[in-house]
Amino acid sequence: MGRKNFIIAIDGFSSCGKSTVAKALAKQLNFVFIDSGAMYRAVTLYFLRNNIQLHDLETINEALENIHIDFIPNAEKIQVILNDEDVSEEIRMMYISDNVSEVSAIKEVRHAMVTQQQKLGKRRNIVMDGRDIGTTVFPDADLKIFMTASPSVRAERRFAELSAKGELVSMEDVIENLAHRDHIDSTREESPLRQAEDAFVLDNSDLTQEQQLSIVLEEYLRRKQKKAID
Ligand code: DC
Repeated sequence: MGRKNFIIAIDGFSSCGKSTVAKALAKQLNFVFIDSGAMYRAVTLYFLRNNIQLHDLETINEALENIHIDFIPNAEKIQVILNDEDVSEEIRMMYISDNVSEVSAIKEVRHAMVTQQQKLGKRRNIVMDGRDIGTTVFPDADLKIFMTASPSVRAERRFAELSAKGELVSMEDVIENLAHRDHIDSTREESPLRQAEDAFVLDNSDLTQEQQLSIVLEEYLRRKQKKAID
């Protein structure tokens, strides 16, 4: 007998609006939302604070044993907790974005995070967004969505997001950071970002959030029916 819980995997490049769709979907369906990128960001924060060198695998393995990441949902948002500290705001800063791809390309880091992510998906209905959710973390996900958007739309979204938080960055820096992360995320050896063969592709360059949600909900209902039949 197959797994009973329903798993939705949402993958795609940075700033494609994955987490907006994932959150809305989770809310609508009453599923648990898990932002896997936040986990890599929290690890990056820990490494930077503790001055961990990215080639020092022994120290990295020790550090990974000491890193505990939790998600606490409350009324407005989901708090990301790194070893009892709320790091939700800090992990969105540009200095984390500038370092996270290098950290998340490390095999040991990925193995530790994938194991935690798989545990979070045991027996619960979840929506998880990231880069390798439909390919590596949950290759048997019930619904896989691959999101794309044009580079200019992505850069504008990211710029607006950072500006709204009062972070002073130039559009050039944002474009450079996105291109840099795209490159590392899709060319790394360990579970690179790629579209799963059975993924539903959603290009949201010209779609409102409501339109995206209704397209994805329709696809969910189709897959749910299929799961009931299988
Ligand atoms: O989704 P995000 O931009 O917050 O993710 C931050 C970084 O984490 C991203 O540049 C790549 C990495 N990441 C990853 O390698 N695998 C995931 N499943 C999620 C994120």
